[in-house]
Amino acid sequence: MVDIADIEKSALGPVYPPSPRVVAEAHVKSMEEYRKMYDRSINDPVAFWGDIAKQFYWKGAPEGRVFDYNFSKSNGRIFIKFMEGIKTNVCYNVIDRNIENGLGDNVAFYWEGNEPGDDSKVTYSELKRRVCQFANVLKAKGVKKGDHVAIYMPMILELPIAVLACARIGAPHSVVFGGFSAESLVDRILDSKCCLLVTADGLYRGKKLIELKSIADQAFQILKDRNYSLKCCIVVRHLLEDLDKKGPQEPPKRPSNIGWNEELDCWWHEEVANVSDECEPEWLDAEDPLFLLYTSGSTGKPKGVVHTQAGYLLYAATTFKYSFDYHHGDVYFCTADVGWITGHSYVVYGPLANGAPSIVFEGLPVYPDAGRYWDIVDKYKVSKFYTAPTAIRSLMRFGPDYVKKYSRKTLKVLGSVGEPLNPEAWRFYYEVIGNGECSISDTFWQTETGGHVLTPLPGCTPMKPGSVCFPFFGIKPVVLNEDGNEVQGQSEGYLAISQAWPSTMRTVYGDHERYENTYFGKFDGYYCTGDGCFRDKDGYFWITGRIDDCINVSGHLTSTAQVESALIEHDLVAEAAVVSYPHEIKGQCLYAFLTLIKGAEFSDEVVVQLKQQVRQKIGSIAVPDYIQDAPGLPKTRSGKIMRRVLRKIARNDHQLGDISTMADSSIIETLFQLRPASL
Ligand code: WT7
Repeated sequence: MVDIADIEKSALGPVYPPSPRVVAEAHVKSMEEYRKMYDRSINDPVAFWGDIAKQFYWKGAPEGRVFDYNFSKSNGRIFIKFMEGIKTNVCYNVIDRNIENGLGDNVAFYWEGNEPGDDSKVTYSELKRRVCQFANVLKAKGVKKGDHVAIYMPMILELPIAVLACARIGAPHSVVFGGFSAESLVDRILDSKCCLLVTADGLYRGKKLIELKSIADQAFQILKDRNYSLKCCIVVRHLLEDLDKKGPQEPPKRPSNIGWNEELDCWWHEEVANVSDECEPEWLDAEDPLFLLYTSGSTGKPKGVVHTQAGYLLYAATTFKYSFDYHHGDVYFCTADVGWITGHSYVVYGPLANGAPSIVFEGLPVYPDAGRYWDIVDKYKVSKFYTAPTAIRSLMRFGPDYVKKYSRKTLKVLGSVGEPLNPEAWRFYYEVIGNGECSISDTFWQTETGGHVLTPLPGCTPMKPGSVCFPFFGIKPVVLNEDGNEVQGQSEGYLAISQAWPSTMRTVYGDHERYENTYFGKFDGYYCTGDGCFRDKDGYFWITGRIDDCINVSGHLTSTAQVESALIEHDLVAEAAVVSYPHEIKGQCLYAFLTLIKGAEFSDEVVVQLKQQVRQKIGSIAVPDYIQDAPGLPKTRSGKIMRRVLRKIARNDHQLGDISTMADSSIIETLFQLRPASL
């Protein structure tokens, strides 16, 4: 949680003007121009988005209203419909259309491997051929329009190729981040009823080998036990291909073999060798689903966020163009993994929709050393760069020398996403990384919003470090108080949005009621982001943090309930409560209080086992940094765990506030005493 007093101080200044290098060529050069465009996007969204839609390819015309929605449960079902009735294909729009516009020989993706020097690239024309080939493979395996395809892959070119092939044949993709465990993969495959999995033999993240295929094999075993079968599993020969080409290497070592199931598994390279490289796109309705992507929910079970064709395409394309002020000739590098929404919208769809070259980076910011990002920036002459505060903070710790070793002179816009970019990290980004010559775009958005919601425009918005500034076109943000009333002027409260925008998520897959309750249940008539915010006297927005039971760790939402249930599954655990704890690099980390069953003894070994358990059930990102023994937990008389009090105990803060509703406060002192020695 960001402290309101700190925000109020930052809100008073200083204010940084946008970079003159960006202003000179900007799409939007003044705040006056921004306001004019913004007002039109709110007052006449059909005309605003209609003009943008003209650059894309459509068949037919919308039936009924172009943009129709209901945000109020008291008026019936929640729905959003944008250009329904028109036919399109997103893959065609982001690839073929660019080729027809003469960009066929331009680079679509640069690939930069984990090891420096390991790289490749693909032009728009080659990308089309490879996407069509893989689309034909999917069809040959029996995948049809409307079937769901799970993708569990490293950051290699086959990942966007698989994504785009799904889009081409109208089979919604469900990408599962390669850091998730076998059980998380299974949960997602089952929930979205995927019929096929695309994966790879393995990958290196820095020096660490991740045997993806063997994790997928564990997932198949669990699926088999649950009587669920897939049509097939297509495996990219990524690490082994290297072995084929270069022979055994040491280091890094390669896995010499992987498990193989003749009935299920097939090699990507063998399959694509036997099919045509032409594939007519499937013409889909504007409101047909494009993809599902799972995000953490406060009840613990991940939600399958559904995005559709036309609205998502236009919004990803437009935010990419304006938030990064993209121009032909720019080279763009987003460090996010395609396993997250940032990778969907701003590694794949947004850049390609603009005909941009986008870098797919397999490695880490600190491998082989903390200069890797800047090495890539110089190598490809990157002008627009997009990363997360956690990466900026981790590089800050290594000092400015790693940055200054590289010229970085091509940089113009530096973007940030995922969690609040604290003023100290903002200044390091601006002054050290950007040499004081770049605009910073701190973009606030969510898996659910499909694209940027609050962001500066780098050619016109005066920047306040730590603020996400103003709404993007089409977004009408409001600050609500506890009663759900809009508050005006300088104010603090719940951040909500009062009007639909084209890429508003359409539903939670398989559970529309959960969608309605989660996002529209708290305040009737509003999409509720789940974040708190502060709006200063100049109208700048500042995000204060989550107001639900999700914790943002390194820019990714983690559900405390989900981590707690993973912990409770351990035989020795009777009860668990997880709260947030400040972390220098991750922003926040997880702190768990554990009550063991009677007779069990808390030990370092138990802690190790429990961490392993969470890693296995969910994945490394959900592993608590701290686990403390809790012979009892503070509870209300109705038996609710008082996490607010636990947060204070974790922080060794004895100002517990009102504890009059606590059933038995005798446990408090013991909990303070049992705080881990490492703190
Ligand atoms: C949550 C959404 C959108 C891609 C990455 C995360 C937090 C996101 C910012 C920002 C402060 C931010 C919010 C939001 N968040 N961007 N610029 N400043 N907080 O996607 O996993 O759907 O998480 O991330 O809490 O609700 P996600």
